Amino acid sequence: MKGVILAGGKGTRLEPLTLPTNKHLLPVYDQPMIFYPIQTLVKAGIKNILVIAGEIHAGQFVSVLKNGKQFGLDHLEYAYQEGGSKGIADALSYAEDFADHGPVTIILGDNTTDADISSPVKNFKQGATIFLKKVPDPERFGNPEFDKNDPQKIITIHEKPPKAVSPYAVTGLYIYDTTVFDIIKSLKPSGRGELEVTDINNAYLKKGRLNWAELSGFWSDAGTFYSLYRSNRYWAKKKLGDQYQQVVKGIAIPGK
Ligand code: DAU
Repeated sequence: MKGVILAGGKGTRLEPLTLPTNKHLLPVYDQPMIFYPIQTLVKAGIKNILVIAGEIHAGQFVSVLKNGKQFGLDHLEYAYQEGGSKGIADALSYAEDFADHGPVTIILGDNTTDADISSPVKNFKQGATIFLKKVPDPERFGNPEFDKNDPQKIITIHEKPPKAVSPYAVTGLYIYDTTVFDIIKSLKPSGRGELEVTDINNAYLKKGRLNWAELSGFWSDAGTFYSLYRSNRYWAKKKLGDQYQQVVKGIAIPGK
């Protein structure tokens, strides 16, 4: 299995933080944001990764990630998404040659999680697998609607609906077979002018080829001030452990 990290887009919601650097290189506690999705893929046994950068501060990725040896990668490749924020599905289209007719596991570069996705990655056969998470603000995400008679069955996915139809977010982790690239070629830009990942997922759903699993553990995006703060707080707390409260109160120093 190969992995793809989508790190394009403009990060405008995080300005002025994203004026001097790329959103995915902003700190999440003690690491640049993009380290987390790389580590999630490595934990799942994926050591061949493509990072898709966008027009904004694209060169900075190479200075930080280098050739990927620091993460234990066998191969790290970069691609360049043209045209600013043309959408997640548009960014993914740049991975077609890299995927080379095989399946790919994709993570959005601003998603951090401590979930272990090794078994869905290992057991993936065909179609698409998406990962859901219960969140307090599902209307901010892809939001799945379930069959009233079968609560396990998704009937459609709404992208940022005005009012959520279930408590779940579609997280930014996806496993797709090679047909994803044909699906992307058939997509039309949405109202916000982007090729939407939700349209990819709905296309698989229509063909009866979409599976889902619930993500265990912590998951958050980090594309707004609030979610960036929440991600920082979670990872600081996890990494500092018992010392967290004392460090926050200024009465202890980490490691002492
Ligand atoms: O975080 C999960 C959510 O991500 C999903 O629930 C939504 O269905 C999906 O549309 C997306 O929502 P956002 O609108 O919040 O995504 P955003 O525009 O913040 O982009 C997330 C990442 O995707 C970004 O950090 C890099 C990558 N991306 C995005 C765009 C628009 C690209 O690589 N290229 C792009 O053109």
